[in-house]
Parts: sequence; structure tokens; C-alpha cells
Amino acid sequence: MTRDNYQNEVNEGQSDSELRLRKTRKAHHIDLAVQYNEQSQTDAWKDIRFVHHSLPELNEQDIDLTTRVADHTWSVPLYINAMTGGIDEAKVINQNLAEVARKHGLAIAVGSQSAALADTKVVDTYRIVREIMQDGLVLANVSGAVPANEAFRAVEMIQADYLQLHLNFPQEIVMPEGDRNFKGVRANIIEILNDSPVPVIVKEVGFGMSMELYAELAAAGVKVIDVSGRGGTNFAWIESRRRKDQRSVFEDWGQTTPISLLEAQRFMNSIEFLASGGIRTALDMAKALALGAHAVGVAGAVLRVFYKGGKQAVSDTIGTWLHDLRSVMLALGAQSVDDLRTMPIVVTGDSQDWAGARGINIEMLASRSRHG
Ligand SMILES: Cc1cc2nc3c(=O)[nH]c(=O)nc-3n(C[C@H](O)[C@H](O)[C@H](O)COP(=O)(O)O)c2cc1C
Repeated sequence: MTRDNYQNEVNEGQSDSELRLRKTRKAHHIDLAVQYNEQSQTDAWKDIRFVHHSLPELNEQDIDLTTRVADHTWSVPLYINAMTGGIDEAKVINQNLAEVARKHGLAIAVGSQSAALADTKVVDTYRIVREIMQDGLVLANVSGAVPANEAFRAVEMIQADYLQLHLNFPQEIVMPEGDRNFKGVRANIIEILNDSPVPVIVKEVGFGMSMELYAELAAAGVKVIDVSGRGGTNFAWIESRRRKDQRSVFEDWGQTTPISLLEAQRFMNSIEFLASGGIRTALDMAKALALGAHAVGVAGAVLRVFYKGGKQAVSDTIGTWLHDLRSVMLALGAQSVDDLRTMPIVVTGDSQDWAGARGINIEMLASRSRHG
């Protein structure tokens, strides 16, 4: 939704039918995301390989999982990414996921808060996350097209520590009721950056990003980016299933998460990157961190586990991921997330072809020396 459209909606108030449509869409997104993540087999992470080293010289108890994102310390480099809010089912999901996030020390984002900005009756479906995460890190979420004052209301609504601005334009294009005018978003992001009370994170929703975009966002003053690449939840597929004709030309669109991180290599000193999109195992997480991410986000895989086994299953899965991440770090001899970023990695397959075509120096990643 562009800024102008958004403002019209807020000025005129949303009709009951628009609010109903939004609620139905949210319920569909949850059902279809679970269905998609159930059947999806794509795995771009197999292109990224660590180099085994037989002398790790590390004691597991010395491994430190803390990381830094825009001046906050996170106790683990993992967060639950933006998914939902605005309907009763979303409140239940947010409550359960926030309880798991609190238990394991994860940061957690709420889903797009547009619904609560338009209708105060649903504020509690988002605020429940802050109520549970009294001392934890919580991320607000709105579209990059939402005017600054509305974006800051979203931050205040949940006393957020960060503000995520999502860019989801292929999704809008596939959505029958989606927006078609994407002008003015960059200027809007700059306005938000100038006055935001909290660090701003610009994020995709599963189509990934490119070096051209990083250059543009860096020039605009963006300091933190969640690449959210292709390989996990696929909003082109989800939105096409909501259409009568089930048509979409975007189901194979965009950059995978590993490729989005390869595209980011030149910007590692000027931007802090977060990685999400198709993260399913601790090995994926370690690879994303080795490619330079400060933390790794999961959405669809967590939702799928929640629908299969409830809160306990999500908690067990996250416990296993953190345990396995330590195991991978131990095998590599990486004592910290910073150490992981120095480990040699070999880029193969489609990701290698892409890097070659785009002039990305993967030899440097393969030959770098452990611990810098
Ligand atoms: C049901 C569902 C709803 C989502 N809603 C939002 C949203 O409101 N705002 C947003 O920025 N991203 C949203 N996302 C995208 C995720 O935050 C994430 O970027 C994307 O799903 C890729 O991660 P994954 O492969 O782990 O699912 C949603 C994802 C799912 C599964």
C-alpha cells in the first residue's frame, strides 16, 4: 500500500467490509503458510558448505551465543519473525510464541500492525507480545509505505525496541486487492529513519534483496536490513492460492537467502544484516551467521511446528536449534558469533553461478583464515 492510499484509508476510516477482508486475509495467510511450509522442499542452503577442521581447540562451555543488533545485545542470534496480529487466532499465536521467545531469550516481531492502526479494538492481539516479553526484545512491524507518525504509533503501541519496515511489493501485485502504485516509499523510509525513536530494520517478506538495493538503502541512511530471501514462505504462492484463477508469475521470483547474503558482502561494514527466509535447521543458521548475518529469523517453520504440536513443540524445536547451533560452532572451533563470521565457506551450485555472474568474490570467503 502506498503512502497516499494508506493516508486515505486512515482519513476516511475503513469500512466494515474492508476490515473483514483484512481479517479474512490474515486467516488465509496463516492456513496457506502452514500448508506451504509443510510441502516445500527448496533448500538453497545446500550450496553453502563449511570446511571441516579436525582440531577445533574449543570447550563447549566457552561458547557464547550473544550477538549485537543496532546497539542492543541479544542473548541468542535467533528471532521469531513478523507474522500476525489483528484476529483472535493471531492473539493466541502471538501469546504462545512470545512465551517461547521469553523462555529461550529470543527477540520476537509482531505481524504488520496496520490492522491495529486502523481499528483500536485489535490492539491487544499485538500488545500481548509486550505483556509477556516484559524485559525481552520486541520488534514493531509496518509497511515501508506507512507514514512516519503512524509507524511511530505502532512502536509506541507495543513499546517496541526496533521498528521493522516491510517491503512486499510482489505480494501486493499478486493480491487481487493489492496495491499497484509503489511511488514515494523510499522518501517515506527516509522520513521514518530521521525521527524514529528506535532502530529501524528494513525487511523483505521472502523475495530477498540485491546489492543495488543495499546501496540505495545505505545511501538513504538504513543501518539494519533483514534480507528475508526466497526459499521459505512464498507469498507469491500464498496469494495465488487466494485468487480464483490461482495465477502468479512470481512463484520463482527473487533471491534466495544465501544469495541475498552473498550480494551483501560489500556492505558488511556499513550495514548490519539479519537473515531470514527458509531457515529450517541449526546448520542453516550457522551458515547465515558465517555469511555475515548478526542474527537469524524464522517465521514459517515456527508456525508449522506450532500448528502441529503447539507451544511445547515450538519450545522443544527452538531448544534443539540452539543446542545444535552450539554443536556446529564447537565442531568449527567458533567460540562466538563473530568467530563464525571468519570461518571459511565454500559456495557451490546455483549460488556459485549467481555469484560468478554478479562479480561477487566467493574465493575470498573460501580462503579466509579462521578467527580472522
Ligand atoms: C503467516 C505469515 C504472515 C506474515 N506476515 C508478515 C507481516 O505482517 N509483516 C512482515 O514483515 N512479514 C510477514 N511475514 C514474512 C516473514 O516475516 C518472513 O519475512 C518470511 O516468511 C520468510 O521467512 P520464513 O521462510 O522463515 O517464513 C509473514 C510470514 C508468514 C508465514
